[in-house]
Amino acid sequence: MENIKKIGVLTSGGDAPGMNAAIRSVVRCAISKNIGVIGIKRGYEGLLSGEIFEMNPRSVSDIIHRGGTFLLTARCSEMMSDEGVARAHKICNILALDALVVIGGDGSFHGAQKLSKLGTNVIGIPATIDLDLDCTDYTIGFDTAINTGMEAINKIRDTSSSHERCSLVEVMGRHAGHIALWCSITGGAEEVLIPEMNGAVNMESLIRQIFANRSKGKTHNLIIVAEGVGNTAKMAKEIEKITGIETRATILGHLQRGGSPTAVDRMHASIMGYTAVEALANAKRNRVIIFKDGKYDDIDIDEALAAEKPYDNKMYEIIKTLAT
Ligand code: F6P
Repeated sequence: MENIKKIGVLTSGGDAPGMNAAIRSVVRCAISKNIGVIGIKRGYEGLLSGEIFEMNPRSVSDIIHRGGTFLLTARCSEMMSDEGVARAHKICNILALDALVVIGGDGSFHGAQKLSKLGTNVIGIPATIDLDLDCTDYTIGFDTAINTGMEAINKIRDTSSSHERCSLVEVMGRHAGHIALWCSITGGAEEVLIPEMNGAVNMESLIRQIFANRSKGKTHNLIIVAEGVGNTAKMAKEIEKITGIETRATILGHLQRGGSPTAVDRMHASIMGYTAVEALANAKRNRVIIFKDGKYDDIDIDEALAAEKPYDNKMYEIIKTLAT
């Protein structure tokens, strides 16, 4: 295979703190190897509409500390169709891209995987606050998101204890409970509800626990709910109606997606960007950068997307034990 001369870089799907640090790393590492970089705005949408510009090392100045993504992002419905993917592939050829670097999560990588089948060389850098990619132990943005969640829970705990209330805190995660599990352990919650644990909430058992916590002398009942579980506000009303204990719901929502990335996120983003360019320089094709068992590596994109990440039941046991 000929040397890589030009790559495109885009961020796609839900933004994640640290995406900017990853773009910066890709751009500067590539240019240091005499590889030209084309910045693509708004993810695949910008690729399809030709929103591109040439990047240089100064294009990524002053962004390492910023949340969000300065390349902008989108969830591109056109990439769900074969026609959209074919058009994206054609545009990559017209732009003479030797590779497309996709910084994003599961959905973005599925788009990249489809492009790879048509012959576009793709390389994925995992960035999503959800931590829901089985191939890697870390996805850029997770640490910042759980720290934001934990700090919010600390504050809710203060007021919840003062009023002896029950508090439901909804964190992000439509399909995955990793944020909820981490926020529950680090926030010292009494209970966690996640979509992976068979969907429907057992209200009777929840109510029994709330009463039991009261009788143990606890002044609060902190229940962390992953977004995908259901209607948190409705659940809070139901709990209050049955128990007679004042209950409040707080939806953290998109608050968790913003903010300056933590040192952990900046480190992973910088090293993953570097690793991606190294892989390209070594003529690798269609890879995803991973952090597994303490080491950075790259694996085939089909292998990377083969399995769904399971939740760690041990974490649930720990939450329950520590809530005693
Ligand atoms: O995938 C990241 C994520 O923040 C999920 O946790 C959440 O369910 C979803 O994106 C929200 O998406 P949107 O920003 O499009 O509402």
